[in-house]
Amino acid sequence: MQLLKDRIIKDGRVLSENILKVDSFLNHQIDVKLLNEIGKEFKKIFNDVEVTKILTAEVSGISIAVIAAQYFNVPVVFAKKTESVNLDKETYEGNVYSYTKKKQYKIRVSKNYISKDDKILILDDFLANGEAIKGLNEIITNAKATLVGTGVVIEKSYQPGKKILEDMGIEVKALASIKSMTDGNIVFCKTKK
Ligand code: G4P
Repeated sequence: MQLLKDRIIKDGRVLSENILKVDSFLNHQIDVKLLNEIGKEFKKIFNDVEVTKILTAEVSGISIAVIAAQYFNVPVVFAKKTESVNLDKETYEGNVYSYTKKKQYKIRVSKNYISKDDKILILDDFLANGEAIKGLNEIITNAKATLVGTGVVIEKSYQPGKKILEDMGIEVKALASIKSMTDGNIVFCKTKK
């Protein structure tokens, strides 16, 4: 998606080889017009897929999933990272390993909001280590629902997640796929949108 790549080049900041800061437009301050175009692009990519729900994880996935959901005309369910009194007792759980905190945590969705008949599209902001998507897929498996597609806004294809998910049979469509970020220089993969 050229608009997104241009914006990454203009406003993204490479903090290290593995961290691209995009919080001026994607995951802290949000450029709603850009996000709307991102939503439309996901609809284009998954237009032929039957989707009954979009699943993401809090926090940064929510805005992306919500704006895309308008074009799919389906509800968004987001997995919660903390236990709270607001969450129903009966939940489907997935495990996520946090590389920054070096520990495993659980994400949860109420059993009221996913059922075995659901055809689920996962959307998220980044694909890095693939942990978030693995955890979301675990929730879908536990609910006996069906994963029909997976999309991310930005994929760093040189980090392990892409391959790990591919090996699990999960193909991830990325709107911008980064091949490398050596010396602060962002290089996109050629063949991806
Ligand atoms: P994963 O998302 O593929 O599972 O990879 P990883 O475990 O490495 O990601 C940990 C968190 O860091 C995730 O957010 C992910 O979205 C975010 N992240 C990964 N790479 C980058 C990057 O290059 N830049 C930025 N800005 N974020 C990155 P999270 O912990 O789920 O946080 P949030 O959704 O609550 O914001």
